Amino acid sequence: MMLEKFADVGRPPGLSRAAFDFLEGGAGDEITLRANESSFARWALLPRVCVDVAEVDDRSKLDGRQMNAPYFVAPTGAHRLFHPDAEVATAAAAMAADVPYATSTAASVSMEEVADIAPAERWFQLYCFKNRDVVSDLVHRAESSGYRALIITVDAPVLGIRRRDIRNRFSVGPEIRWANLEPYGAAALSDTEDGSTVARYFAEQIDPSVKWRDIERIVDATSLPVWIKGVLRPEDAERARDSGASGVYVSNHGGRQLDRVPPTIDVLPSIVDRVGGDIDVLMDGGVRSGADVVTAIALGARAVGLGRPPLSALAHGGKSAVIEYFQSMSGDVRHTLQLLGAQSVQDLDRSFLTSAI
Ligand code: FNR
Repeated sequence: MMLEKFADVGRPPGLSRAAFDFLEGGAGDEITLRANESSFARWALLPRVCVDVAEVDDRSKLDGRQMNAPYFVAPTGAHRLFHPDAEVATAAAAMAADVPYATSTAASVSMEEVADIAPAERWFQLYCFKNRDVVSDLVHRAESSGYRALIITVDAPVLGIRRRDIRNRFSVGPEIRWANLEPYGAAALSDTEDGSTVARYFAEQIDPSVKWRDIERIVDATSLPVWIKGVLRPEDAERARDSGASGVYVSNHGGRQLDRVPPTIDVLPSIVDRVGGDIDVLMDGGVRSGADVVTAIALGARAVGLGRPPLSALAHGGKSAVIEYFQSMSGDVRHTLQLLGAQSVQDLDRSFLTSAI
């Protein structure tokens, strides 16, 4: 079972061009989207030899707990666009493979339903709604259904301009619902003549005026650890820490928000240097191989998120393909650790990296 099986395999049969472009595309000229992936190769790996790597340990540590993988499923919305089993398949695959799973505010299956089938390490991603009662209720529901962390996404005060979606007049059919939002009167996101209801709903409901004070209020009101997603500047990482967040999640939304922001692997070291001693640092963006996972962790990330790859596997073959994808990724991480002469993920540090080949 090779990871290559899932790389650049193109559009899955049955997936519309528009849905495929929504999955694969980014904002603007897609410069950040491409750079996220290509920038990992600027780091060369520097193996240590004559180390006993007969057994290697790929578990990571986050929020003081052991995670059974060094990677997790990043929060992504509307899995039903990609497979009829939707989040039920992705979450169950994460459970089967013991991979931490983040569910999105914009999921097409409710967080309560996901909780019943997801791994114990499950996290809820929150968008900040103008209506703060909705925010409080979502947080309360996440606490009640056993989510272990709250990820607040702050890099989307407004939606990025995704040209592929505009060109395709991308919109979703009536079968796609934002299930988490149904109690608050979110209608099915069926198409209208003026284009994507997703973009319109986002503009109407999501608060573009969120400030650190609002983050502090959410942190104060919840018992869950809060991780701030979408941070690219060291001083924002400090603000997140000072606002009471337990973690900062370095991300550029997979190149889907502001184009021409730096690839995440480039800004990760400066953020780790600034706050890594105080709070957990997570990252995502362009992670496609075991070598990518190892590079990010050697630079100081505690764990890395995978956005598009599990969704692509879902579109190709539902739950079993997602499980197979996780197995391949874990195999690739362990293989990389062995060839690198690192006995465990915990052993990784910057001595295993050098400047580009
Ligand atoms: C996303 N992402 C995202 N992020 C978030 O905080 N809430 C969300 O609802 C979504 N939805 C979403 C949908 C789709 C189709 C994609 C591809 C991405 C961003 C996601 O969490 C993550 O930051 C990136 O996908 C990571 O980059 P890679 O792994 O896709 O390169």
